[in-house]
Amino acid sequence: MTTEDKIALLRKMREQARLGGGQGRIDRQHQKGKMTARERVEKLLDPGSFRELDPLVTHRAVGFGVEERKPLGDSVVTGWGTIAGRQVYLFSQDFTVFGGSLSEVHAEKVCKVMDLAMKNGAPVIGLNDSGGARIQEGVVSLAGYAHIFLRNVLASGVVPQISAIMGPCAGGAVYSPAMTDFILMTKETSHMFITGPEVIKEVTREEVTFDELGGAMTHASRSGVAHFAAEDEEHCLALIRQLLSFLPQNNMEDPPSVPSGDPHDRSDETLKTVIPASSTVPYDVRGIIGSVVDEGQFLEIHQHWAENIVVGFGRFGGRATGIVANQPAVLAGVLDIDASRKAGRFVRFCDAFNIPVVTFVDVPGFLPGIDQEHNGIILNGAKLLWAYCEATVPKVTIITRKAYGGAYDVMSSKHIRGDISYAWPTAEIAVMGPEGAVSIIFRSELAAAEDPEAEKARLVEAYREQFANPYVAAGRGYVDDVIEPQETRPRIIEALDLLQNKRDANPPKKHGNIPL
Ligand code: HXC
Repeated sequence: MTTEDKIALLRKMREQARLGGGQGRIDRQHQKGKMTARERVEKLLDPGSFRELDPLVTHRAVGFGVEERKPLGDSVVTGWGTIAGRQVYLFSQDFTVFGGSLSEVHAEKVCKVMDLAMKNGAPVIGLNDSGGARIQEGVVSLAGYAHIFLRNVLASGVVPQISAIMGPCAGGAVYSPAMTDFILMTKETSHMFITGPEVIKEVTREEVTFDELGGAMTHASRSGVAHFAAEDEEHCLALIRQLLSFLPQNNMEDPPSVPSGDPHDRSDETLKTVIPASSTVPYDVRGIIGSVVDEGQFLEIHQHWAENIVVGFGRFGGRATGIVANQPAVLAGVLDIDASRKAGRFVRFCDAFNIPVVTFVDVPGFLPGIDQEHNGIILNGAKLLWAYCEATVPKVTIITRKAYGGAYDVMSSKHIRGDISYAWPTAEIAVMGPEGAVSIIFRSELAAAEDPEAEKARLVEAYREQFANPYVAAGRGYVDDVIEPQETRPRIIEALDLLQNKRDANPPKKHGNIPL
């Protein structure tokens, strides 16, 4: 064989690898409205930047006739490339080869890119589309999953990990995405569950469709498993690129700064009228966020789940920042189990990756209810409190209206190491709202009053004047200043500038014991 012949053989093998499970199965993938594993990689990465690893690997299994079928590369495409010029490592499961199922070598390929990502400090992206464990490989496949799970945990907090679910993801396989930082699902073409509709019907007699059980909107709005429900695959891949633009490459780096034409000292007079005259009237806090971030650009995370709190990324003076905001437009912005879990996890992510957190507070307290108590609002609410207490990144707090009770402490107060805290003149910082407070402390006076209604109104007004304002807190230095709403953006940018070299640490320990 001449060198020319040998090169020709290599090229032929590469072409075979490129075809995965063959043209027929590629066509079937397209008919389902799905891209192939390679098409997804090409679409996600900067053009021409993909460098594939292990395209010539084949499985080692025997039995059930699989030894007759050894597609080059097996059921996953792996390698590295760039997104907006920054290095990423990725794996993309190839449904056209044994349904993207996880063989021993599939797991080895995934582990190889995860190890490289860890060593070189770059994000890992997994594009999931798989029938789960390679049935013909039995326990060897289960071992492969375990090797990936271990790496997910070791990489957590070291490099960002992003999972896109673009097809099936079932059984124990769901636990790898579950342990990554962000999960995106494609509407209509993806599902995630531990046990599928048939098994559920057998065991509990409940009937449910695939989509109702584990489709993108189910997980984006009910379980909170998915951070994003993408309209289609293109949208999903675009969201990954957008998300990465806010993240550092690893935990030793600062998040990227993107120069912005939006003036740092831009004030916004409309903020003066955002807070309604009556403190029980709702408003959409996303209006405030949109007004203060650079160019109004805000990437909301978990948009459809626990909507009483809003979290996401924006930029202030170019600096990527995590934003947490109570949402008065939903359940009056109360903190409940899901809101606490959602924001707690987000704050911990930001802290792990050196992303400052700006918090907008308008919270009437924790949600009362038997359901909340019995489902553990005590432990779950503590997760958000824990996250803020533990976080050492710059923390800037703006109290726009209510900051009542325990929720005042929780929402990045200065008492738990909030760095800079400002209140608007409309803020009400107290143990509880005027109505509740008056009913409790003047119970006997109200019972004895000639006109209890009028007496209550008088006392509520007196309480409001004395306590439902920012000045008691400001008088004690619990907020650093009361600022005019229109100057919020310049004040936040100034605070983040001030805090850019902040150094703070927690006591040395193996790890704390967060109330899981
Ligand atoms: C080997 C598999 C496979 C698997 C699918 N295939 N799943 N091969 N191991 N797990 C193969 C099929 O034989 C078929 O091969 C090709 O992939 C496409 O599958 P279809 O069934 O034709 O596709 P579709 O109708 O789209 O259905 C997709 C599917 C279904 C819903 C994923 O294939 C399915 O239910 N598969 C089994 C899922 C499962 O029970 N997996 C184990 C879960 S337990 P050909 O040659 O025809 O192309 C698990 C434990 C993980 O994963 C534990 C981790 C700790």
